Amino acid sequence: KSLVVAIDGPSGSGKSSVSRETARRLHAAYLDTGAMYRAVTLHCLEKGIDFADAGAVERAARELDLVISTRPDTESVLVSGIDVTDAIREPHVSKAVSAVATTLGARSELIRRQRQIIADSHHRIVVEGRDITTVVAPEAEVRILLTASEEARLRRRGVQLGGTQTAAQLKQQVLVRDAKDSSVVNFQQAADGVVTVDSSDLDFEQTVTAVLEV
Ligand code: CDP
Repeated sequence: KSLVVAIDGPSGSGKSSVSRETARRLHAAYLDTGAMYRAVTLHCLEKGIDFADAGAVERAARELDLVISTRPDTESVLVSGIDVTDAIREPHVSKAVSAVATTLGARSELIRRQRQIIADSHHRIVVEGRDITTVVAPEAEVRILLTASEEARLRRRGVQLGGTQTAAQLKQQVLVRDAKDSSVVNFQQAADGVVTVDSSDLDFEQTVTAVLEV
């Protein structure tokens, strides 16, 4: 039976870790769509593609040989057979990724691939990102907006990055990126039929439980 769980939310909402664990508990597949935007971004940086050239960015997205694991226990992203799982998390990629996310031709290509991955999972998958509940899979059985206060999001991202960032750097990374992303997708407010789970005062386990309850 089809069970697509769509989870959207801003940076530091706990989306990735909570979605992955939810997939494990449901014995479902898991797709981190942000990793796909990151993989295209890394590729553009390495090939010296000008982010202002929308046609070139779209072409890069279309031509990219991208394989992403959908097993919740295996975090693996391959580009042309090369493992970029860690490289796509580097700060220079995080800083540039909104340029790909705001290129509409690249978005439609990634959305097409994401829908294919959902079909390949036989519609048993947890998919997380910014536009899953609204664009990629609006027909999903479960649609959640995972939010958290700005303070909680900055705190979590700081811990995740190993406490090496100053408060100003974190703000730049989290809030500036969310502001740029918001120009193309609205993930700040729940669309009709989308259930909001606010994780500000919940720990990891409590958040997973709240998602599973929905
Ligand atoms: O680092 P964080 O977990 O916040 O972000 P991510 O999920 O790895 O996504 C990285 C970037 O990809 C976002 O900042 C967006 O620019 C873009 N993205 C998107 O536009 N649409 C999605 N469905 C997922 C990610």
